[in-house]
Amino acid sequence: MTALDTPDAPPALAGALPPAARTRAQRRRNRRLQLFPGLTNAAFEEPIIVGRSVFGPYALINDPAGVRRVLVENAANYPKTAMDLRFFTALFGGGLLGSDGETWRRHRRIMAPAFDPRSVAAYGPAITAAVRDHLAKWDGLPDGAPVDMAQDMKALTLQVIARTVFSTDSAEVIDLIGGALSRGLEAAADANILDLLPLVGEWRMRARERRLAASSAGLDAAVARLVAAREAALATAPNDLLTRLVQAKDIEGGKGGNGGLSAKEIRDEIITIFMAGHETTAGSLSWIWYLLSQRPAAAARLRAELDVILGGRAPEQADLPRLTYTRQVVEEAMRLYPAAPGLSTRRALETDEVCGRTIPKGASVTVMPWVLHRHRRLWDDPERFDPDRFAPDAASRRARFAYLPFGAGPRVCIGQVLALNETILILATLAQTYAPRLAPDAEIVPVANVTLGLKHGLKMTLARRQESAEKHT
Ligand code: HEM
Repeated sequence: MTALDTPDAPPALAGALPPAARTRAQRRRNRRLQLFPGLTNAAFEEPIIVGRSVFGPYALINDPAGVRRVLVENAANYPKTAMDLRFFTALFGGGLLGSDGETWRRHRRIMAPAFDPRSVAAYGPAITAAVRDHLAKWDGLPDGAPVDMAQDMKALTLQVIARTVFSTDSAEVIDLIGGALSRGLEAAADANILDLLPLVGEWRMRARERRLAASSAGLDAAVARLVAAREAALATAPNDLLTRLVQAKDIEGGKGGNGGLSAKEIRDEIITIFMAGHETTAGSLSWIWYLLSQRPAAAARLRAELDVILGGRAPEQADLPRLTYTRQVVEEAMRLYPAAPGLSTRRALETDEVCGRTIPKGASVTVMPWVLHRHRRLWDDPERFDPDRFAPDAASRRARFAYLPFGAGPRVCIGQVLALNETILILATLAQTYAPRLAPDAEIVPVANVTLGLKHGLKMTLARRQESAEKHT
């Protein structure tokens, strides 16, 4: 419990592990309550689980040294599985998430500078402008207005990604992307165990690919217009991701060779970044609002910091280093509710040893932030929301690879600096004026649908802060 948490026991948070089951009925109930029903309690207690299923050998790695071995030290032995790459290719085309080997390396080299800390700092004003517009929308609603915060945050983060790395506020592109993503995730949501069967899996994947291709025609045309407009104005364009992609266009016939990118590769990366870059951040923000609504002491401490540091003005990039508790809230929320609850499955190319166990050649190897972040050996009282875990002086007590919201190694999230800055700036702006409350009939059920979402959305009411009560307690 943090120093400021209320003394009476707060309600359990959504997604908490149910108590150990003794009877078969309890076990059945527990499976229903779990985000990943296949995971047993042992997953949250053992450093590594190695086994064999009808699909072959597998390993789940829950130990920081093991995670380092698989994702960093011996990453070349653990590429993403062909099925995982194909899944992302069906969703986004062949962008970073769905490619591998030399193609992936070339694309990552071209795109990385648009996400480095200096570029991200330059996106600050575009982020604050997008949040300011959003705040104006909230201000136009009556006090106590109902919102689905999950949808609301998606609309905001879509604006942010459009205005930062693409420097556009084209409503056409933004609306089409929003629609395409929900269709894509719907298609992904029907993923199940059948996908892993040799023939049936192939057939299901092809059907999914056809559905997605049919639904992306309008989107393709809008993205092509976005690219054409930038090509026509390159001389005066900002040095954002879109400019970098367009400048990398292969002049030798658009095949994507010679170190450049083809028109199709540019389209795929634009869609990948739009999708990967807003759904995740929106999900994190939704969970943050939910957590703050359930933990009033942490919410009050957050707002006290905002009052002291910002004194009512909008936050800017330069304020970030001083918003320490705000950052702690964001980091702790990403521990309990990591937007990517499971990393892509990897395949062991050669036999390896991890945590003293043999990982056979060909094994599927999984690292799950959802499990790692709630693991009983790695966290004290893991289901408790405690932003002080991320206090500056606590960092040295934490194993580096026990906390992986953005993955690690060569395939680490390209947008992690942007995501963190954006989340903090959005939270700091909106929480200064608003203290959204959970609606009494809200049903909070986490669901893993590529990213960690809320099965029934997040029904909240938009309450303005009660200035006198909160500011002076
Ligand atoms: C809270 C926000 C975010 C979270 C939690 C998150 C999480 C992750 C994780 C865990 C991975 C690695 C997956 C793996 O190893 O299997 C990843 C990869 C990736 N993320 Fe993010 N992400 C976030 C925001 C963003 C943003 C803002 C962007 C872009 C603007 C982005 C773009 C990508 C891309 C392109 C990859 C693939 C990188 C590669 O394979 O080279 N993400 N993300």
